[in-house]
Amino acid sequence: MILGIETSCDETAAAVVTADGDILSNVVASQSELHARFGGVVPEIASRRHLELVSPVVREALERADITLDEVDRLGVTRGPGLIGALLVGLAVAKGLSWGRGIPLVPVDHLQGHVASLYLQPDPVDPPFLCLLASGGHTLLLDVEDHTRFRVLGTTLDDAAGEAFDKGARLLGLGYPGGAEIDRLARTGDPEMYTFPVARVRSAATPGKARRRASKGMSLDFSFSGLKTALLYAVRDLDPAELEERRADLAASYQHAIVRALVGRTLEAAERQGSDRVAIVGGVAANSELRAALPDAAAAPLELCTDNAAMIASAARFGSPAADPLRLDAYAVA
Ligand code: KG4
Ligand code: ZN
Repeated sequence: MILGIETSCDETAAAVVTADGDILSNVVASQSELHARFGGVVPEIASRRHLELVSPVVREALERADITLDEVDRLGVTRGPGLIGALLVGLAVAKGLSWGRGIPLVPVDHLQGHVASLYLQPDPVDPPFLCLLASGGHTLLLDVEDHTRFRVLGTTLDDAAGEAFDKGARLLGLGYPGGAEIDRLARTGDPEMYTFPVARVRSAATPGKARRRASKGMSLDFSFSGLKTALLYAVRDLDPAELEERRADLAASYQHAIVRALVGRTLEAAERQGSDRVAIVGGVAANSELRAALPDAAAAPLELCTDNAAMIASAARFGSPAADPLRLDAYAVA
């Protein structure tokens, strides 16, 4: 029995997963409504809310799994990357449980956690595979070698894909978080109505020999900031009534541009790597157009794409317990 705890951003989450990857419980308390009025996550508010929610959420996860703390064999907790104050709440709880109950504690990298969402039942995917990790904080193309290791083939030079969705949603006057809102609205819009530019990034802009090996001088990196500016200009040209009328078309066209960039680079990476297996993880992997555009890609169920603790428990299955759990520290950046 592995108890996973995740508090890296604005979801307070706990889950119980078995050694075989069966999910016995998966509790996620989202704080998004709390942060919505600020248009984004306020770190200090997130930390305070985690503090209030973490014990009830852990208790709920144990109850739903129908086990007690005595039956927990291993703890897995997100150590980073994320908001440092938010991470410290989950980490402190995990340390307390580990120390008080003598339960081994495995520190888990949040990105590794997203990848490990694919290792859960009922349809686990085994490495090696090429993985697009697209979330609110990261956009990475990963060569996943085994259950504990990956190599970064490409990343974003500015905004993450989820961040581009969230900022776009804000420009369109939609709520926060915006990815799911754009996804919903885009279904009624025309993706060809507006042509938004998707930047191709030259290798020279990116340090690192591996990335410079890219063909035709093009790297496997992403850039979404130009796209956001293009949307800003398009919106600025419209009066309120026109914006109302065009909002769905703008959302559809904007989403289409992001998805085109993600799909293009992912397939290119797969070809270069010679990998015939592609997977998508992270909050943006919940996007319906992205999932439809990569029908052969492995993808976890929607509730395992966005932040959750089942994926953290899943990663903890493959990690090593810390020799001295009380000395573990959180890290903000990967
Ligand atoms: O993985 P995640 O829950 O948290 C991070 O680790 O960042 O990802 C959250 C991101 C947000 O930017 C959110 O807008 C985006 O995932 N997202 C979506 C969808 N659902 C969530 N983006 C596009 N389409 C969706 N359906
Ligand atoms: Zn995440």
